[in-house]
Amino acid sequence: MTEQNQVYRCNICGNIVDVLHSGAGKLVCCGQEMQLLEEKINDSGSEKHVPVVEKTDNGVKVKIGSIPHPMEENHFIEWIEIATDGKIYRKMLKPGDKPEAEFEIDLESINVINAREYCSIHGLWKSV
Ligand SMILES: [Fe+2]
Repeated sequence: MTEQNQVYRCNICGNIVDVLHSGAGKLVCCGQEMQLLEEKINDSGSEKHVPVVEKTDNGVKVKIGSIPHPMEENHFIEWIEIATDGKIYRKMLKPGDKPEAEFEIDLESINVINAREYCSIHGLWKSV
């Protein structure tokens, strides 16, 4: 059974899927069950992954993380997303980009903003 917004990874080929609609079945890739990625919230190493959300004049800026995360060829933040009031905004990143994303949203009508990001080595993280 999957749940909406869960993220799964194939540990053989690297496929990553985001569940848009839940279903009873298990997700399978390369002949084996895909791994459900846990949304981590506790940084313990020297690299920081937890998204930091800041309000701006036009919406929000999400930085990864409290110390900028590396954006190297083999270790970088692949995407940053925010979810709020039934809408999801996502910015795809590549090596060399800044580990941050700015989203223009009307903060007046929004109460809660949840931010997530995916590191190519350390997986899925969410804001606390
Ligand atoms: Fe990382």
